[in-house]
Amino acid sequence: QKSYEHIIVSRPDPSVVLVTLNRPKALNALCRALFYELNEALQEADSDDAISAMVLTGSERAFAAGADIKEMKDKQYADVYKNRFLEHWTAIANLRKPLIAAVSGYALGGGCELALMCDIILAAPNAKFGQPEINLGVIPGGGGSQRLVHAIGKSRAMELTLTGRQFTAQEASDWGMVSRVVGEGEGEVVKEAINMAKEIATKSQIAVQAGKEVVNAAYELTLQEGLRFERRIFHGLFATNDQKEGMTAFVEKRKANFTHS
Ligand code: CAA
Repeated sequence: QKSYEHIIVSRPDPSVVLVTLNRPKALNALCRALFYELNEALQEADSDDAISAMVLTGSERAFAAGADIKEMKDKQYADVYKNRFLEHWTAIANLRKPLIAAVSGYALGGGCELALMCDIILAAPNAKFGQPEINLGVIPGGGGSQRLVHAIGKSRAMELTLTGRQFTAQEASDWGMVSRVVGEGEGEVVKEAINMAKEIATKSQIAVQAGKEVVNAAYELTLQEGLRFERRIFHGLFATNDQKEGMTAFVEKRKANFTHS
């Protein structure tokens, strides 16, 4: 694996890439260089045929404590506008393969937004989420104001955006923002996310990517458009070998051997 300055990329399984944010002294604050490395590593995994799913995590203490405040502090409007500040973050949302966030500790500001850009979030019991930008005289800038509304509803998202209050793993789970809170124990949440990635890797990768595409379309389309889009993608899967194999294996009472074709 290529080595980076602010992230660690590993391969806990031949089909799974694990990216660990690694700027411990700054609680994984998302400086520009870190985000470029993250984009590069995830895009490389996304275009590697051997990889089926990706896991993103931080440390026990912090998934990520937000955009780097020290790096942002002296920026002027003209800089941030002309240089499209944070626009490159959205590359994460354009990945085709599933990206699972394993969140322990602080996921604040850009850290919460980064988790929300992932496809599935698993939280450790000590995870603390929040959009504290209001305390810095700004608002979320990495998609938080939009994705949080979709994830937990307007009233809660408004309260959290305007007060900056942190919320717990349990609250995030009760509100449907995270899939579930994983058991106690250091590293448990990452193990669970890797197991989920391995499970996804046993499926037809064409169907997995199609599934991600249609679920995400629910954020963009009306119900009628979304249902039509789903049906068309569903119809399209009948052109794949994996559909023939999956259904034949069921009828023959054996395990499917998908070839991702
Ligand atoms: N940017 C830069 N450095 C950060 C940082 C951040 N977002 N968060 C923490 N750090 C640094 C601290 O400055 C400190 O560094 P020094 O030792 O050099 O002083 C180190 O990480 C450890 O932090 P603390 O000493 O503050 O640790 P703590 O345990 O007392 O507190 C914390 C932890 C509650 C997470 C606190 O660090 C904190 O409030 N961090 C900022 C959270 C925040 O406001 N995030 C939003 C950023 S804005 C944003 O993200 C915009 C956007 O929408 C994209």
